[in-house]
Amino acid sequence: MAKKFTVSSFQKAKKDGEKISMLTAYDYSTAKLLDEAGADSLLVGDSLGMVMLGYENTLQVTVDDMIHHIKAVSRGVKRAMVVGDMPFLSYHICVEESVRNAGRLIQEGGAHVVKLEGGRDVIDHVKAIVKAQIPVIGHLGLTPQSINMFGGFKVQGKSEEAARKILEDALLLQEAGVFSLVLECIPEKLAKLITEKLDIPTIGIGAGKYCDGQVLVTQDMLGMYTDFTPKFVKKYDNLNESIVAATKKYIEEINTGVFPSKEHTFKIDDEVIQKLY
Ligand code: KIV
Repeated sequence: MAKKFTVSSFQKAKKDGEKISMLTAYDYSTAKLLDEAGADSLLVGDSLGMVMLGYENTLQVTVDDMIHHIKAVSRGVKRAMVVGDMPFLSYHICVEESVRNAGRLIQEGGAHVVKLEGGRDVIDHVKAIVKAQIPVIGHLGLTPQSINMFGGFKVQGKSEEAARKILEDALLLQEAGVFSLVLECIPEKLAKLITEKLDIPTIGIGAGKYCDGQVLVTQDMLGMYTDFTPKFVKKYDNLNESIVAATKKYIEEINTGVFPSKEHTFKIDDEVIQKLY
């Protein structure tokens, strides 16, 4: 079996100049395929609120929702590192609650590490979670749980002040003990600067090619989620078209009696069935 991708593998990848591949996963069968394909890490993101549950944003996702999906993903994975995303309000109220919720994602869900959004405001929470021996990934830039503060899904860190704040927050998070940092939807040159300044690996989403790794929402990458496609998404397939075409064919074959055919049908001896008439 391939060697498991761990916190040390993240560190080693940065040292050796090897890129880290991360994708989101929310269910057993998809996680199994992505793991078999060789993704280094699977993020059970709170994006599941939009992609899997059909909410408008990620704010309604609960710790129990996360645990439900993390469990399914953990069962499908042999090699990849499973990252459990901490949902809105699960690490904002008090440090004790943050540690308890992070612990639940590990203990009940089976995640290997957790991820949370924010910079200077969450430093005490990060330190406490790390102190409880739970590895943490930070997340800066366009942090979707702050959607109502940002006023929409917009590129972050374009002005000097905003860019400086993200850089300072990145350094503070590293000092607080995060072992990696997701940078979402920020200018490429800012992501490059942060990546160079940090010892820990950065994982970019809409942050350009200089990050130490990349993450995308799998349903975006495969062309399955069609409600909204951000500029930074590259579609490696158009599964929505295949799914709709296959479903239409299935319906047509039911209507025309082509399906089910003999090969999909079970037999019984005529003598047995006759006795029931
Ligand atoms: O929830 C999520 O899927 C994420 C990624 C977009 C980084 O946080």
